[in-house]
Amino acid sequence: MARVVIEKLNKFYQSSRKAEPVYAVHDLSLEVQDGEFLVLVGPSGCGKSTTLRLIAGLEEISSGTIRIGDQVVNKVEPKDRDIAMVFQNYALYPHMTVYENMAFGLELRKFSRPEIDRRVGSAAEMLGLEALLGRLPKELSGGQRQRVAVGRAIVRQPKVFLFDEPLSNLDAQMRMQMRAELARLHHQIKATMIYVTHDQAEAMTLGDRIVVMREGWLQQAADPATVYQHPANRFVAGFMGSPSMNFFTGKVWNVEGQIWFESGAVQAQGGVRVPISSRFSAGQAMVLGIRPEHLSIEVRPGWAPIEGRVELVEMMGAETLLHLRCGSERCVARLPLMAHFQLGATVRVHADLTQMRFFDAATGERISS
Ligand SMILES: Nc1ncnc2c1ncn2[C@@H]1O[C@H](COP(=O)(O)OP(=O)(O)OP(=O)(O)O)[C@@H](O)[C@H]1O
Ligand SMILES: [Mg+2]
Repeated sequence: MARVVIEKLNKFYQSSRKAEPVYAVHDLSLEVQDGEFLVLVGPSGCGKSTTLRLIAGLEEISSGTIRIGDQVVNKVEPKDRDIAMVFQNYALYPHMTVYENMAFGLELRKFSRPEIDRRVGSAAEMLGLEALLGRLPKELSGGQRQRVAVGRAIVRQPKVFLFDEPLSNLDAQMRMQMRAELARLHHQIKATMIYVTHDQAEAMTLGDRIVVMREGWLQQAADPATVYQHPANRFVAGFMGSPSMNFFTGKVWNVEGQIWFESGAVQAQGGVRVPISSRFSAGQAMVLGIRPEHLSIEVRPGWAPIEGRVELVEMMGAETLLHLRCGSERCVARLPLMAHFQLGATVRVHADLTQMRFFDAATGERISS
């Protein structure tokens, strides 16, 4: 097992001499600890796969350094990097059995038959594939095939596992199941794993640490709770969590040492007193962020009222998502009950002041509380 240390990594693609280069990764510095489960997450095209492929050696680095263990691997061939990668399209060999698919890489590397048997047997046991070793891929379900692909990586016993959206071909239920299995697997073999997904829920549930990327730039690297509760900027705040955080644009004022926020939607006389530092100029445009679960329909002392017209009510069973139109802005409240609301009616929800986050309207950076 090993640490992966990335320093000032850049990658641009130059498709033709005339075309502008495409910057896929900008100045990325990152340390993945030995045994850590690190998740790279972000919207399509943000550079996740490119980063993974650079670590694997499948793309050439434009500048920067990648270390696996103590070795700089910039010039090391993929096959000599001691990593195993599982892709979204994990193409198993169709004419080989499950056993042969898992054993193939070891045979190429001239492992002895007893060692191959031992490793395949142990991986099959870990992944619940023992009864399927003699089957062909076409005789397996999607989830079972996915497990074979993971098994193929495990038998190699690499220093580092790289996963690129390995679950995205599976249906929702199978994904949840495989997600739990991967978490268990990581717990069991304690290997360093770097996992790419665009699914924020997958990132939250799997990662020891999450790295959020946008347009090739790292936005935040932290544990899931920190990313969720203390997002570094408005982009991270909006990307992590579903339904998304609500945002209201307004202005802040410092009135006799107290800081107040005013916007059309957040209606309290003279604005609401807010928990932020004074690192702003009076009248500066600011964005208030509040998560749907921090809005309540009940009146609570000191919470800030937000009034809106009911646009949509989604009853989810255990909770209700109440969509409101507040002037020019929209917001969603997540209410822990089955609640009935009249479409078009005016409803008042209340926002927990301690859960409000503020962002600079111009830069998107969070104004710390
Ligand atoms: N071979 C290539 N030539 C030119 N541009 C490329 C090439 N591969 C990727 N890119 C560009 O680099 C950027 C990052 O791509 P990358 O595949 O890393 O995104 P991603 O985060 O994995 O997205 P997705 O979630 O859609 O898989 C994109 O703008 C993409 O168009
Ligand atoms: Mg990708």
